[in-house]
Amino acid sequence: MRCSIALLALVFCAFVVPPANAARILGFFPSPSRSHLLIHCAVADTLARAGHNVTVIATKPNMYPKAPYNYIQLDTPLLPDTFMNVLVNDPPPFYKRYPMLLSEVTKMNNRTLSHPDLQEFLRNHGEDAFDLLLLGYFGNEFHLGLGAHFKCPVVISFMMQPFFVINELIGNPSEHAYVPTLFSGLKQPMDFWARLQNYLTTLFEYYYMSPMLERAEQKYYSYNFPTSSGYPSLEEARHNVALIFANHWFTQGPVRPNVPNLIEIGGIQIKQHPDPLPADIAELLDGSPEGVIYFSLGSNIQGKHLQADKARIMYSVVSKLPYKVLWQWGDSGYPGNSSNIVYKNWLPQSDVLAHPNVKLFITHGGKGSVVESQYHGVPMVGIPLFGDQPVNVLDVQQLGMGVYVSYADLTEERLRQAVEEVLHNPKYTETVRNFSKLYRDRPMTAHQTVVWWVDYVLRHKGAFHMQSPAVYMKRWQLMSLDVLGFLLTIIITVISLALASVYWLAKRCRGGMKGKTNIKNGVTKAKKVK
Ligand SMILES: *[C@@H]1O[C@H](CO)[C@@H](O)[C@H](O)[C@H]1NC(C)=O
Ligand SMILES: *[C@@H]1O[C@H](CO)[C@@H](O)[C@H](O)[C@H]1NC(C)=O
Ligand SMILES: *[C@@H]1O[C@H](CO)[C@@H](O)[C@H](O)[C@H]1NC(C)=O
Ligand SMILES: *[C@@H]1O[C@H](CO)[C@@H](O)[C@H](O)[C@H]1NC(C)=O
Repeated sequence: MRCSIALLALVFCAFVVPPANAARILGFFPSPSRSHLLIHCAVADTLARAGHNVTVIATKPNMYPKAPYNYIQLDTPLLPDTFMNVLVNDPPPFYKRYPMLLSEVTKMNNRTLSHPDLQEFLRNHGEDAFDLLLLGYFGNEFHLGLGAHFKCPVVISFMMQPFFVINELIGNPSEHAYVPTLFSGLKQPMDFWARLQNYLTTLFEYYYMSPMLERAEQKYYSYNFPTSSGYPSLEEARHNVALIFANHWFTQGPVRPNVPNLIEIGGIQIKQHPDPLPADIAELLDGSPEGVIYFSLGSNIQGKHLQADKARIMYSVVSKLPYKVLWQWGDSGYPGNSSNIVYKNWLPQSDVLAHPNVKLFITHGGKGSVVESQYHGVPMVGIPLFGDQPVNVLDVQQLGMGVYVSYADLTEERLRQAVEEVLHNPKYTETVRNFSKLYRDRPMTAHQTVVWWVDYVLRHKGAFHMQSPAVYMKRWQLMSLDVLGFLLTIIITVISLALASVYWLAKRCRGGMKGKTNIKNGVTKAKKVK
């Protein structure tokens, strides 16, 4: 009896008393994208629930109001609407798009850092305020200066499989012979032409995009964290990255090697236990056993960002379907008032997709959306708009979990065919449900993984023993150019010496022979004269 009371008390204490090793963690998530924030905040939420004292600073409203962290929203101008419109409806050619995006994003990140509230926060929180910085990555490497400000190790949260910048930060191999880069749109296994394309894309990333980004990051870093004020260089700040969480799991492909401090936490944003849906949505879903179609082009794109004729096509197709359609459209300018469509400004996507009556997801193919759909086993029709979305949707189509529909060439005919194909052919649902089983089968859940690794980094003061030596090497050293140069020098020296000695020997011999011949000739001549 006494024993069980003691046990009860122990169990009670375990829930009430925060762990003795509770750390102060600052999550800094300046990305303007709600889908990015959804992932970073899920990491922060997980850590706060594990008992850490977590403060989050971001530029969008808190998406997890129940999360036990302190949330500070900076009211800073993000990417301009005009920019989003251009990106979706009139995208410039590839070689212009990247510099444009990079310039806008880094400029925005500088504005965020200069925000008076953030500057005030930094003045009030000195070097001992935090034990760990959790940085959401989005073209903001110069924000690593915050780790230098708080003199604490940095953990980075990244929304996708590692790509070139993330790889370079921790010396993760690119292995371009068999790992398709994020933006190539290629799949494993790659044939010769795919490998050629991947090789060229990798060169483009590492030798064009990376240096361009590097220049911008360096400019903003020097401005915000000048070495004259005692800050380390950007290079040194980079060495302070303890670990990177990538929102990827290998069953999604590609299969690739990672360094020990690249930890995959694919699906961290997916709730393990769905929250109850808002009453009206629950009623709609529960009351439609024949199935409901969920339509959302993502959290960044509102209906008003779409071209009017494209919006009309989408409306025309879904308004004629014999199913209810739950459309996350935005706050105004609905394209029509069909009785089977319910427009919402915002929907709890993961909870909606978890409902067994959702039959189809019409999506823009953002990584977060695709993964949620895969997790819950819902087939897709993808209408990608920009960024990594076309690649994600192509992936979905190749895996047999849905159908790709081009936004640029959108017609009623094409969209209707795609929707009907996925609704009527059971193979899409079966494939995505099979995938769902494989995706969930892991040694630890994404949430357990986050908690374990952050505790590990805290226990070992940054755990820099995990760092790959590649982090401290120059690119030419990583390519072994110095070693090859050295070997080549030796080989050339040896060959030159060999050639020189052969030449020298030959010359000496020839010299001897010549002497003899001359004598002979002399003799012959002498004979002739005679
Ligand atoms: C959590 O950390 C913040 C920042 O260091 C600090 O101001 C606050 O007092 C801490 N809260 C608790 C409950 O320890
Ligand atoms: C960063 O932003 C601040 C404030 O907007 C601005 O004064 C500064 O010039 C910017 N830095 C650079 C390098 O552009
Ligand atoms: C939909 O209905 C609202 C009011 O009920 C109306 O203002 C709007 O013009 C209608 N839209 C269309 C496209 O018919
Ligand atoms: C799904 O998995 C089952 C059982 O492993 C298998 O029989 C079936 O062929 C799979 N379906 C598809 C479409 O891959």
